Amino acid sequence: MNKIAATLAERIEGRHPKIALILGSGLGSLVESLSHAIRVPYGEIEGMPVSGVSGHAGEFVSGSLGGVPVLVLSGRVHYYEAGDPSVMRPAIEALRDLGVETLCLTNSAGSVNPTMAPGSVMLISDHIAFSGKNPLIGEPSDSRFVGMTAAYDRGLRIAMREAAREVGVEVAEGVYMWFSGPSFETPAEIRMARTLGADAVGMSTVPETILARFYGMKVVGASVITNFGAGMTGAELSHEETKTMAPLGGQKLARVLGAAVSRF
Ligand code: HPA
Repeated sequence: MNKIAATLAERIEGRHPKIALILGSGLGSLVESLSHAIRVPYGEIEGMPVSGVSGHAGEFVSGSLGGVPVLVLSGRVHYYEAGDPSVMRPAIEALRDLGVETLCLTNSAGSVNPTMAPGSVMLISDHIAFSGKNPLIGEPSDSRFVGMTAAYDRGLRIAMREAAREVGVEVAEGVYMWFSGPSFETPAEIRMARTLGADAVGMSTVPETILARFYGMKVVGASVITNFGAGMTGAELSHEETKTMAPLGGQKLARVLGAAVSRF
């Protein structure tokens, strides 16, 4: 068990959640739907990377979501903060060590698909690691050659769709393209993303998906669309906009997740 897992196991009083959720920018409100919550700020766990991005709480919350034990990571460190795509590796290894089998990754993203407007929720069917970085570079074992053909689990996506139908939330599905950030894309990059087959662009999630697959976890991913990509509307993009818009789709996603976890 790594150090983060050992400390956390003690702090969450021996609970054994099999599902973990990483919440992106402005999506922290899901935590309010947890019952029996135990909160542990990242800063109180030695070795846990701490994000400096505003809108990211930075805490573990163990609790029950729709009657199912879950471990929520509210906030994450991004590649653009650390310059290291493997910055979340110890945290994801800790989840594996604690017995987590399913990791749900959420993020805020820009839409490059004209039919997917801000406020939408997009299930991630696949990704493009456009930043060119990989969190497994330097890993010496042969297990570094992780298969990514079904990185985003089909069964879990079906569970999300069924849950969405149950709670009356419309969900889109598409490809997420990872840009390093922290600057937003240019209009030319957004046109390129669309041409290359992306539906949404964002600055997170992909390295965590690769790490989770490396550690043998199943992955389900969802993006909350906060804006159209640069150049699609003429308006300038900003982090303020991301933070203001994220809760809109975030509330929808929280409802879907509340009904989905019992189906995972
Ligand atoms: N680009 C990259 N990341 C984002 C965006 C975007 O337009 N919106 C929210 N996160």
